[in-house]
Amino acid sequence: MKKSVFKAVSLLLAFSLLVCVFTPAFAESSKDETPFRISVSVNGDTGTQRGFTWYTKDNTDSLIEINCENAKITYKDVTEWQGNYCHQAVVAGLTPGETYEYTVGSKAVQSDKGTFTTDNKDSEVNFIAIADVQASSEENFMKGLDTLLAAEETMPDADFTVNLGDFTNESDNTEWDTYDKVFGTANMDYTIAPVAGNHDGFNRPYWFNNMFCLDTTESVQVKNGVNYSFDYGNCHIAVLNTNDMMSVTLAQMKWLKNDMNGTDKDWKIVAMHKSPYTLGKDGKWPDALYLSKSLTKVFDECGVDLVMSGHDHQYIRTKALKNNKLSDDGTVYVLAGTAGSKRYEIRKFLAGTYMRTSFINTMIIQKNGYGNYWDGKSWDNTDEKNIGGCFNTVSVNGGKLTFNSYILSDELTNADGSRLITNTDTSTLTKETGKNKITFTGDNTTSEAEYNLSIIPSFCCLAVYAFGEWLPKFLYSVPAILKSVIVDDTF
Ligand SMILES: [Fe+2]
Repeated sequence: MKKSVFKAVSLLLAFSLLVCVFTPAFAESSKDETPFRISVSVNGDTGTQRGFTWYTKDNTDSLIEINCENAKITYKDVTEWQGNYCHQAVVAGLTPGETYEYTVGSKAVQSDKGTFTTDNKDSEVNFIAIADVQASSEENFMKGLDTLLAAEETMPDADFTVNLGDFTNESDNTEWDTYDKVFGTANMDYTIAPVAGNHDGFNRPYWFNNMFCLDTTESVQVKNGVNYSFDYGNCHIAVLNTNDMMSVTLAQMKWLKNDMNGTDKDWKIVAMHKSPYTLGKDGKWPDALYLSKSLTKVFDECGVDLVMSGHDHQYIRTKALKNNKLSDDGTVYVLAGTAGSKRYEIRKFLAGTYMRTSFINTMIIQKNGYGNYWDGKSWDNTDEKNIGGCFNTVSVNGGKLTFNSYILSDELTNADGSRLITNTDTSTLTKETGKNKITFTGDNTTSEAEYNLSIIPSFCCLAVYAFGEWLPKFLYSVPAILKSVIVDDTF
């Protein structure tokens, strides 16, 4: 009897002890602190800094663990965003040319390990550029991921990846979660330089800014996307936001001009979503014409070497252009195709009206999933192995910049079953290095008041192009557009 009382008391005590010890921990673990939507982005000095973003379902503390003794981590306030909690931080104090391992999360839960490598500041720079995955379904995101993996296979030593925008279609929780489900593992191991697409920013306020931790101190606005710039090796790269009043305001053009005049890097590169030169479905709207007539003047003035864009889901590369004419010391424009599966037909009616035929004859163009291409006479040449997702690589070595475009075939594989990747375009630019001089050294931030004051003049400029130049072209093209709609079922 005595023994069983002793047993019961012991059990009771043990149970009480268990409750005392484990109740707080159990309560704590009922919170969902698992980090998701993790990205590592360029943020300021690419040799010493990176920006991090991740989300949690519940509100938690933020913690980054990284194998760098000198790391100085600045956490932003955790903010609720569309039902989840957004964490962002800037890690500074890194050493140029080092590869780091990191995890993100909270004190209680950390992510799997990811890696990135900082800029070693030499004049060898390699990067990947993809555009317009613009997916909703998991299947379509998978196509985009396959293309990115093919790019990484082709350029395993890429320093960073430029995503030229339209990550998703509707930019809502469901789509970003599917994007994360598909791209999440790959995203842990590279640095991204993201560009705001119209599907990421326009009429989707603050989504872009809440998905990537970027240095937006000089951005003219942060509501519908952001503009920013960074150096990598001997390249200066400016990222524009073409959701800024449906294209770019005069405030952003002024920022770009100062930004490009404020660098002495050898190569000046611009990444933006909408394209000044396009033969896709958006080529017929006023914003494309405005960009080709107005923004290109800034590129001409500042000696921009390469402009990469997306938006029209086809591949085009121009020869060097200045003042909308062929010029050896001009700017090369690349419309970077689509990494995804939504591909746009060439709108033939744009030729000769929106774009001079003499231009088109000098361009490298592929269409219809890149199976068809312009040979100077016809759009109807087809190469079956070139139907697939498009990716691009840029390699800079001192005074030489090599640009390549590739297609990962949708259906075909190599004989051993491996990915069939075809190099569909290549081009090289050369220049004498050390020639660019800094001619702007002032403050390049735009105050809110200054930005607001620029809106009406910007609108007037757009209106002048729209009604003075675009509308006559559009009216003239109406019969051809109708024919395109009826015969080709394209608008
Ligand atoms: Fe777009």
